[in-house]
Amino acid sequence: MDAVKLKITLYARILFWITVLLICLVGIIVFVIQRKEVQTISQETRNRGILTAQYIANLNLRSLVLWDEETLRRNVEDQADDKLVYIVFYDRNGKPRAANRLVEGLDEITCCSRLQEDAMPDSFIIRPRDVVVRNRTLSVLEIELPVFVTGSPSKWASIKIGQSLEDMRADVRRTRLVLIAIGFGGLLIGMLGSAFLAKRITLPLQELVEGTIRISRGDFSHRIRLASRDEVGDLARSFNEMTDRLLEARENMEAANRRLVQAEKLASIGRLAATIAHEIRNPLTSVKLNIQRIAESEHLDELEREHLNLCQEGVGQIEKFIKELLNFTRASELVRDRFPIEQVIEESLKMLKDGFGQKKVIVEKAYAPGLLPANVDGDKMRQVFLNILRNAFEAVENGGRISISLALAQENGGRKYLVRISDNGGGIPEKDWETIFEPFFTTKASGIGLGLANARKIVEQHNGSIKVAKKRGKGSAFVVTLPCEEEK
Ligand SMILES: Nc1ncnc2c1ncn2[C@@H]1O[C@H](COP(=O)(O)OP(=O)(O)OP(=O)(O)O)[C@@H](O)[C@H]1O
Ligand SMILES: [Mg+2]
Repeated sequence: MDAVKLKITLYARILFWITVLLICLVGIIVFVIQRKEVQTISQETRNRGILTAQYIANLNLRSLVLWDEETLRRNVEDQADDKLVYIVFYDRNGKPRAANRLVEGLDEITCCSRLQEDAMPDSFIIRPRDVVVRNRTLSVLEIELPVFVTGSPSKWASIKIGQSLEDMRADVRRTRLVLIAIGFGGLLIGMLGSAFLAKRITLPLQELVEGTIRISRGDFSHRIRLASRDEVGDLARSFNEMTDRLLEARENMEAANRRLVQAEKLASIGRLAATIAHEIRNPLTSVKLNIQRIAESEHLDELEREHLNLCQEGVGQIEKFIKELLNFTRASELVRDRFPIEQVIEESLKMLKDGFGQKKVIVEKAYAPGLLPANVDGDKMRQVFLNILRNAFEAVENGGRISISLALAQENGGRKYLVRISDNGGGIPEKDWETIFEPFFTTKASGIGLGLANARKIVEQHNGSIKVAKKRGKGSAFVVTLPCEEEK
């Protein structure tokens, strides 16, 4: 909801201000151009009017010289039209001598000649005025020019024309309309551009806000996909880095929490184991001795001997359980020394040799040559590989295959031994990949479920890791990593 609010506010604000700016800009531009255009049009109309007046004067020069008023009147009647509303010729005293018929209805026209006797040849009067012609008010540009004839130094006559301004007005209106249309078009394009710009600015911000909300809800896997090389891109990158660090911190916290729970669990198992060992061991030894003593008797028949054997097996299993439990819970320091890892693996394999032989298990090995000896507790690491190999051995069918590889890998800036033990047995469902390392998790009828828990405890004591790895095809694979420290 907040994200939407921000989007609307910022988006609308940018759009609003750009639009205001555009309206001002387009308004000023259209106003200035319009003014210039109107000036040009009126200047053109003025020049055209002067030229027309001169032209008509020249056309009628002959009749003027002779003051043939009849011909003059006829001529001006022909020459006046819609655009040239009236034409009047005055004598040098300002008395009208010839005009088109329309002028008879226009009283003022005769009074307008203000040209002086000694006016310069190019001097003229020019002014706009409104006249009513056939009940219609017309705007005209009135131009009055003196007329000179060759051989006469002073003004011979003067001509006055009323040039209709309707065309000019129409031109101005058309120009205005075109400019307004261009202005609106520009404004529309500008607004579309500003909408696009506002979207471009607010979209990454919106994504940032959405990202923050998702992270605040605990979704640390969310990444902001912004590849821009600007400040927003920098912000997104720092944001993603921060999320990475948060995720890492949360994982570390969860791992620490898991370790704490595990440690508490181990402590209670330890206490339980100590009590069991204390309470059961002595009576169990006496049970074992007594069974042995009875077994040595010669008066036992076959059935009794079979029952005694079952008792001995049961006692043996209880002993194994107590031993494994104590072994698992006892906190013991590592006794480190330099051992080639392949040698430790080989020793573990040797302990399972007989079983492997009976089941005809094929063991494939791939040890990287020339590896430095590892600084480990040999006995404990032997136990790790033994537990993993025994599980693999128990998982495969007769004639099954177990593969062991050893290599050196570069991981997180440090070198590590990488031991991979895989088999083609029944495999482990993915949901159990973590659970199998919990104490007492077992799927076997005679299993205790401490083999992998013990292996993980030892490997972590060595600052290494053990986990189930994805495997193509049937079976399962375990990967053990151990830090490779240079010999000092
Ligand atoms: N290679 C493997 N293939 C299939 N399942 C396996 C393999 N290794 C371990 N497991 C599963 O993990 C469980 C836990 O193994 P773990 O070694 O901890 O205990 P266990 O073998 O059941 O008993 P024990 O304490 O006697 O070793 C096993 O019961 C088994 O289900
Ligand atoms: Mg096991």
